[in-house]
Amino acid sequence: MTKVTMIVNGKSRSAEAEGRTLLVDWLREGLRLTGTHVGCDTTQCGACIVHLNGEPVKACSVLAQEVDGAEVTTIEGIAGADGTLSAVQQAFQDYHGLQCGFCTPGMVMAATSLLRENPRPSEAEVRHYLEGNICRCTGYHNIVKAVMAASGQDVPAVAAE
Ligand code: FES
Ligand code: FES
Repeated sequence: MTKVTMIVNGKSRSAEAEGRTLLVDWLREGLRLTGTHVGCDTTQCGACIVHLNGEPVKACSVLAQEVDGAEVTTIEGIAGADGTLSAVQQAFQDYHGLQCGFCTPGMVMAATSLLRENPRPSEAEVRHYLEGNICRCTGYHNIVKAVMAASGQDVPAVAAE
């Protein structure tokens, strides 16, 4: 075991990690930040997306020891310090962009990255960007609506597949 330290949601945090410990497990088990979910073992579902040095990554595809010293933002760090939801979180709530909520942390992290890179994406661009995120409840229409709303654009009345 090796002590690994990262800046997580703006604070220096440390926990032990084995060489094989994945970043997602380090966050969930080492730091008890369980908002980052594990939905597969094939790096397909996107439920584990966090921001690593500002970039969205699937935390199940990164070893914790490899990113010792990195800066990480998890879903727990997305709302304001006073608990005010981010624009993306608020839009997911307003447009019913979640059902069971299991995929939601990864969706919010991915959508937040998209809007940083491309503040006014087209509906097609939203769908393309979120291709790495699986929603088992198949709530994709409302997720796309939420991201469009969060970008300040008109929300498609009936989203096309
Ligand atoms: S748990 Fe990481 S992609 Fe599914
Ligand atoms: S809301 Fe249930 S998996 Fe997406």
